[in-house]
Amino acid sequence: MTSNETKRIITLDGPAGSGKSTVATILAKRLGYLHADSGALYRSLTVACIDQIGAGQSVEDFGNRFSQSKVNPESFQFRVDYENGQQLHFLNEVELGQRIRSLEVTERIRFIADDLAFRNRVNQLLRDLSKKTSIIVDGRDIGTVVFPETEYKFYLDADVHTRAVRRFSELQESGISDTTLESIEKQISLRDEQDRNRKIGALRIPEKAILIDTSNIDRDMVVSGILAHLQQQF
Ligand code: DC
Repeated sequence: MTSNETKRIITLDGPAGSGKSTVATILAKRLGYLHADSGALYRSLTVACIDQIGAGQSVEDFGNRFSQSKVNPESFQFRVDYENGQQLHFLNEVELGQRIRSLEVTERIRFIADDLAFRNRVNQLLRDLSKKTSIIVDGRDIGTVVFPETEYKFYLDADVHTRAVRRFSELQESGISDTTLESIEKQISLRDEQDRNRKIGALRIPEKAILIDTSNIDRDMVVSGILAHLQQQF
């Protein structure tokens, strides 16, 4: 923890599969900061909604249920904890594990991510955390909406195919094999569209962010590039 030092906030935004989460994990270790994964918070709250109102017969059915039942994000017994640098999500004191990465959740998340009350709950969790320690936060609207005042902003991008290949191997590594590369590529394009056109918290390049295209460079180069920028700024 860095309670006696200046608490810094580093933001890392970008589309699905741009490598943000992996890069943020490595950077957090190198700097001794906490890595907060905002996408995982939206995913966990989506699980909470599915448990409360059911997954529905289809994605659209779930969307209808969600808007009709006016789910209150404050009604869940939900908490986040950090153990050995890992963000853990507890719903009714049960850790959600890899369930948050399932296709069922990924397909339904947009309804939760489009909802102002849910966005406020996630943003509040992140802001509370930033008061306790230095953090590196990855997401879509972190540098634009959640922490617009921080000096340390990065935006990672990569072409759709590269991102799909990365996401596919990540899922395979974590033992999820309910999908194909082709369907991931379609899903990512669809998510790009949803993430960029969301009425609130849309994916945008934050003002003054350092832009990094990761299509043709590996993870270690991204990490060292970001560290070099930070060393100049600190
Ligand atoms: O980073 P991820 O793929 O786990 O994020 C899942 C979804 O959560 C993403 O498609 C949109 C939503 N999200 C968001 O709306 N705002 C954020 N800051 C992070 C994620």
